[in-house]
This record gives sequence, structure tokens and C-alpha cells, in this order.
Amino acid sequence: MRFCVAIDGPAASGKGTIARALARHFGFGHLDTGLLYRATGRRVLDGLTPVEAARALRPEDLSRDDLRTAEVGQAASRVAAVPEVRSALLDFQRAFAARDGGAVLDGRDIGTVICPDAEVKLFVTASDEIRARRRMEELAAASQIIAFDDMLADLRARDRRDAGRATAPMRAADDAVTLDTTEMDIATATDAAVAQVAQALTRR
Ligand code: CDP
Repeated sequence: MRFCVAIDGPAASGKGTIARALARHFGFGHLDTGLLYRATGRRVLDGLTPVEAARALRPEDLSRDDLRTAEVGQAASRVAAVPEVRSALLDFQRAFAARDGGAVLDGRDIGTVICPDAEVKLFVTASDEIRARRRMEELAAASQIIAFDDMLADLRARDRRDAGRATAPMRAADDAVTLDTTEMDIATATDAAVAQVAQALTRR
């Protein structure tokens, strides 16, 4: 069975948590597409050009333990604005979306470019302040201490670049359901997403 759940949204909105929970709940595969851009950005920081880095991406690059830093997030957002980088990563994502047994992909352009025919499209958002707070706590748990104002500025700069680029900008697909998680805990947000997917499955 092919069944694609597309989840998009700005940095630290909760989309990764929701994507993982949906994949677990329904037994679907999950692809965090941000990791592809983070791994590409990481290799650029290591000295490759963006296009070289994207074309030469290997599975082991995705499991590096130094991808979840603010520095790599900014590098990811810069390489993500390069059209040739995006096209180098396209086939892998489309093949994953079409896998047998269902797929959840989260990113910025899943519902608009990667999976425009997805059975479920969610756009997950939250206020800038709550996203900065969540990401700050996440990084602190990994011993990366960042001040709140710096975190807020970092996320806003990345969102501006992601939404403003010419190729595959971050935006909600016209047929996406928006989930604002500002006042939701993880269980509430996950339940809302599970309900959307369950409803779409009954329509098949
Ligand atoms: O986890 P967080 O929301 O902070 O970011 P991420 O999903 O790991 O994505 C890192 C960066 O990759 C984003 O800021 C985007 O610039 C880029 N990205 C993209 O352009 N398209 C995607 N489908 C996924 C990520």
C-alpha cells in the first residue's frame, strides 16, 4: 500500500515529533528530510561545495552525531536555497514517499514539491517564542547552551531564508491542514495528527 503523509512547517514547530509518533502509530516509514540538508550543510562546513556535498551524500552522513547544532541548521538552510542541491536530493525523497507500507516525511516542501499528491498534508506551526523555548531546551539537554534571544534570532533568520527562497520555499500547500501547536502538549498535537490520518485511511 502506498500512503504518504506530508508534514511541513518552520523550525522547531513540533513536526519531527509528530512525524515520528505517526510513523510509530500506523507502522509507516519515517524520513526526516531536514537531515538530508543538515548532512549536506555539515559536509560544506567540512570543505565541500554544496552541490558536491549533496551529490555525494552517503547513508552514514545521516547518522553523524553533530547534525543537530544551530551552526549546522544555518548551513543547512543556506545549502537548501541552492536549486541543484534540492534536485540532487529529490529522487531519494520521492522514492521514500512511494515506499510500500506507508510513509511520513517531514520538511519544508513535502506537501508542495516532494509529495503534492499526499493523502494527508499537515502544516505544523507554533509561535516564534514557544519554538525558541522548545529548541533551547532540546539543545540544552544535549549540553548546547544558547540564550533565549539568540535562539529566537537564529530561528527567525532561518525561517526567513526558508520562506523567502525562490526554489521550493517553505509554505503550506493549499490543501494542507494547519496544526498550531503553541498551546498543545505533545500528546494533544499527536492525537490531532493521528485523527487526520485515521480519517484519510477510512476514505481509501
Ligand atoms: O528541525 P528543524 O525544524 O530545526 O530543521 P530541519 O527540519 O532539520 O531542517 C534544517 C534546514 O533544512 C531547514 O531550515 C531548511 O532550510 C532545510 N530543509 C528544506 O529546505 N527542505 C526540507 N524538506 C527540509 C529541510
